[in-house]
Amino acid sequence: MLNKKALSLLVTASLGIAALTGCGNNSGASGDSSNKVIKIASQSPLSGGSATLGDALKNGSELALNEEKDKFKELGYTLQFEPLDDQGDPKKGVANAEQIGSDSDVYGIIGHLNSGVTIPSSEVYEKYNIPMISPAATATDVTDRGLKTANRIVARDDFQGPAGAQFAMETLKVNKIFIIQDKTAYGQGLAENFKGKAEELGAEIIGEEGITVGEKDFNGVLSQVASVKPDLVYFGGLYAEGGLLIKQAREKGITAKFMGGDGLDSSSLVDIAGDAVKDTYITSVAGVSTDTKFAKNYKEKFNKDAESYSIYGYDSMKVMLLGIENAIKENDGEIPAKDVVAKAVRSVSDYKGEMTEVGFDEKGDNKFAKIFIYKFAEAAYPPKLEGEISK
Ligand code: ALA
Repeated sequence: MLNKKALSLLVTASLGIAALTGCGNNSGASGDSSNKVIKIASQSPLSGGSATLGDALKNGSELALNEEKDKFKELGYTLQFEPLDDQGDPKKGVANAEQIGSDSDVYGIIGHLNSGVTIPSSEVYEKYNIPMISPAATATDVTDRGLKTANRIVARDDFQGPAGAQFAMETLKVNKIFIIQDKTAYGQGLAENFKGKAEELGAEIIGEEGITVGEKDFNGVLSQVASVKPDLVYFGGLYAEGGLLIKQAREKGITAKFMGGDGLDSSSLVDIAGDAVKDTYITSVAGVSTDTKFAKNYKEKFNKDAESYSIYGYDSMKVMLLGIENAIKENDGEIPAKDVVAKAVRSVSDYKGEMTEVGFDEKGDNKFAKIFIYKFAEAAYPPKLEGEISK
């Protein structure tokens, strides 16, 4: 079935008129050349310390976009995926965002992984009215700045941090806690949210230290930990530093329990920490997708197992494309201006994804987002699910 727009494009193309006004760059390199191109970009680290999760986010998004191509072709549009590497670096994310903004064919962004990259890059998307859906960024500021285009499908750190604190205090029954964080918007914010609730529940915070992303030798901070003997070390940060911290702590004879957040929810944590990962607890904003049809398709296409954020990349892309489809249908088959598309994406109120239900509130947070608690009982991924918390 072709709509009015598609028909007129076909007619125009057959007359040999290449340039169509008001349609952006319609080169349609990899699709039906008569269709208008709709590009969805992804931004995540494809290189550097958090590339395992960044690659997962990108692959999941790509799988979802490929599944929707035929439907959009019928609507008269050629979908194209444009994955960009933000390197986990705010400056690179912003530079990429400017490049995305200057491309009139880009109608949506799936990303980022890191909150510290999401926050400044989303200011650029807002300037160009391009909707963003993050499958992974959890810092409160991602959606607390009142941006019309910034959305996410995962829970916030003011849910995740306190949930971890409650588990640590009430289930693990720890008392003395040492907090380490990586000084990023994510790591610092998560650690603060954890600390606030832990203190409220009676914890004694006996040490607090910051480390730097990319650091490899944690001897200094771990000597401090060893000297004060906490029951629990809480880490706000990502698996690259978290894995080394856990490994080096055990090598130093530190027996305290370890706990962290979703940034540790990766097979790479196990690869880095090895056997030392045993008895590490994490909260995550991602559920386990191991036994799903999605995981099978993912393995077939990418020849690797899905990670925590693979399926969230997938669900985010599906939500983005649903919003865009709704915008097209509500506009008589024509894709409307980007600010109208952004409104349609924010209006998605009850989408049942492969992993998570999605309905955005007025800020762009997902009303259905959950927290999961896991234990690495052995050096294997995924870890064992200990509990699931809904709002
Ligand atoms: N949730 C992590 C972040 O926001 C990945 O940076």
